[in-house]
Amino acid sequence: MKIVCCYFSGTGNTARACEELMEQLEQNGHITSLFPIRKDAERPDLSDADCLLVGYPVHGFNAPVPVLKFLKSLDKTQKKTPCYLVRTSGEPLKFNTASGVTPKRILKKKGYAVMGEFHYVLPYNIIFRHSDGMAARMKRGLELRLPADAEKIAHIEQFSVKCGPVSRFVSLVCRIEHAAMPRIGRHFKTTEKCVGCGKCEKICPQGNIRMENGRPSFGKSCAGCMGCVFSCPQDAIHPALFEGWKVNGAYTFDAPPATDGEVCKYCKKAYLRYFHEGEEQDRSS
Ligand SMILES: Cc1cc2nc3c(=O)[nH]c(=O)nc-3n(C[C@H](O)[C@H](O)[C@H](O)COP(=O)(O)O)c2cc1C
Ligand code: SF4
Ligand code: SF4
Repeated sequence: MKIVCCYFSGTGNTARACEELMEQLEQNGHITSLFPIRKDAERPDLSDADCLLVGYPVHGFNAPVPVLKFLKSLDKTQKKTPCYLVRTSGEPLKFNTASGVTPKRILKKKGYAVMGEFHYVLPYNIIFRHSDGMAARMKRGLELRLPADAEKIAHIEQFSVKCGPVSRFVSLVCRIEHAAMPRIGRHFKTTEKCVGCGKCEKICPQGNIRMENGRPSFGKSCAGCMGCVFSCPQDAIHPALFEGWKVNGAYTFDAPPATDGEVCKYCKKAYLRYFHEGEEQDRSS
């Protein structure tokens, strides 16, 4: 089977999840190709794909704007190509499932048959920094799910993910972020710590950063992915309203995974449920 995965990723979590899922599918004998959704990236040819995966991080209980734009730009197909959403988020809250509503609607309009949604919890790139132990346990949570999830794709298994009216309502309210982000992003500034390395310019999936006189200048198309803020080696970006929620520096993922007792107090029950589900899935596969 020829499987194409198109994904948006600001700080690498969704890229990691999609890459690992595709690696698993390759090992199972499928032909896979990965395409980042970036303004400077080539457009995928989906005409002979047997299955499409669309990866994205949850932003304010919604899919990020570049993902919705990408889906709207797809050619209509008569083939009813099977399609799965692959999303990542920092917390295992049910509200996050509402982020699939609009992508599914667009995909259906375009003639794709949405078969299911995979969800992986990976460390936060905004709000607060997870501990290394939490990051490692999340990585394990992803790895434990991959074999069964790849099987579902291989068999084009159809499954639905519940999304209640409260989640839809919260997601709708949070959609204000889509309009707010380009405005907030214009006010990102660099501090004197900036050494003009240009890493932020290269990372920005929106082409929203230009180096001018050795310093980054922020444009009007920020999608709030936090890629620049997270990846700056000098922690030199001041993300305007998000300064108090800033997370800088990649996670290592190789610490001993957090035990149940060490799981962070915020949403502890939900994290434990997510981790135990993965372990259960692994035992029964
Ligand atoms: C602007 C913004 C909004 C976010 N909103 C949510 C959210 O509503 N729910 C959640 O669980 N995580 C949220 N996150 C966390 C990311 O979904 C999570 O860290 C994700 O794995 C990042 O993926 P990436 O590294 O591929 O960009 C948000 C992150 C950003 C930058
Ligand atoms: S990545 Fe950081 S140090 Fe490098 S140019 Fe951008 S803001 Fe400056
Ligand atoms: S400016 Fe920074 S936060 Fe905004 S889209 Fe580019 S990398 Fe993401």
